[in-house]
Amino acid sequence: MNIGVLTGGGDCPGLNAAIRAVVRRAVDKGNSVTGIKNGWQGLISSDFEPLDLRLVSGILPIGGTFLGTSRTNPEKIPGGYEIILKNFQEARLDALVAIGGDDTLSVALALSDKGVPVVGVPKTMDNDVYGTDFCIGFYSAVSIVTDALDKLHSTASSHHRVMVLEVMGREAGWVALLGGLGGGADWIVIPEVPSTMDHIVDHLDERRGLGKDFSIIVVAEGAVIPDIKAESAGIGGDAFGHERLDKRGVGDAVSREIERRTGFETRVTVLGYVQRGGSPVVFDRILATRLGVEAVDLLNKGKYGVMTALQGNQIVTLSLKEAISKSPRKVDPQLYELARIFF
Ligand code: F6P
Repeated sequence: MNIGVLTGGGDCPGLNAAIRAVVRRAVDKGNSVTGIKNGWQGLISSDFEPLDLRLVSGILPIGGTFLGTSRTNPEKIPGGYEIILKNFQEARLDALVAIGGDDTLSVALALSDKGVPVVGVPKTMDNDVYGTDFCIGFYSAVSIVTDALDKLHSTASSHHRVMVLEVMGREAGWVALLGGLGGGADWIVIPEVPSTMDHIVDHLDERRGLGKDFSIIVVAEGAVIPDIKAESAGIGGDAFGHERLDKRGVGDAVSREIERRTGFETRVTVLGYVQRGGSPVVFDRILATRLGVEAVDLLNKGKYGVMTALQGNQIVTLSLKEAISKSPRKVDPQLYELARIFF
């Protein structure tokens, strides 16, 4: 079997580990592997690279994806799916492993419905793909947020300031919540749980009354705070219609409002794309390895149209149709209640 492998959507640490696992297992099974460059764009433009053990040697700890990625959506290209099917045949591909988030996997589902043997592997720092407890890239992002909070604690305490940290995650608050929990944030604002400026300001005043003369607040880029004006910047969405949430400036707006209402010196840090950089943490290396191997095994068993997933400590599969129809997966309210113990 000639297996095509691609990485689509936002990059993250762990993608190379997944590609490595796919190639190693495929060679194990006597399959050949074709790297598809830059996500679905590679199948639109027949941009392929034969992969072998030599090419994936040593890439486990390297961030990003050496295949490249994009947010290419065949729906937005006239005849996009027909072009992909033609190029798939001409390249003599027999099956696909699509590593990506719900956008990438929605294209995988469409191709599966058109008869292409495909298995999806869940990847996104947002951790919002339904059916898996964790996505590749998530814990690396959580570690980066936690490290940033550790660094902000020292400067906040030195200057007796309130520091606001804006983090990514789109409409889900997973990164903000777990990063904030790991970094001991004094308040965490996520899209799933309404916070008002009164909540935040009262909490800051209470902390000051207890002699805590600095605070750290994590705000998810998709958070909606009733009395804060952070509208979409009106920049057209990406090929899947997603707005650039970093342009809303919610962290900066919260920071300015805190200073206006409390008089406390307040500063904002927008962590941005640092959350998707660097070497994968060991959790992501192992998750990527397990999911990549499983994807190749499923194809060799003739199981298509499914996504590999981690549930508990078990690698399981669910249909791409179910995974896509129930994404994005929002934060578990019980997890937020746990975090609320600490702020
Ligand atoms: O989906 C991952 C993500 O990092 C989101 O958290 C963020 O809002 C988005 O990608 C940014 O998109 P882009 O990389 O296209 O700027």
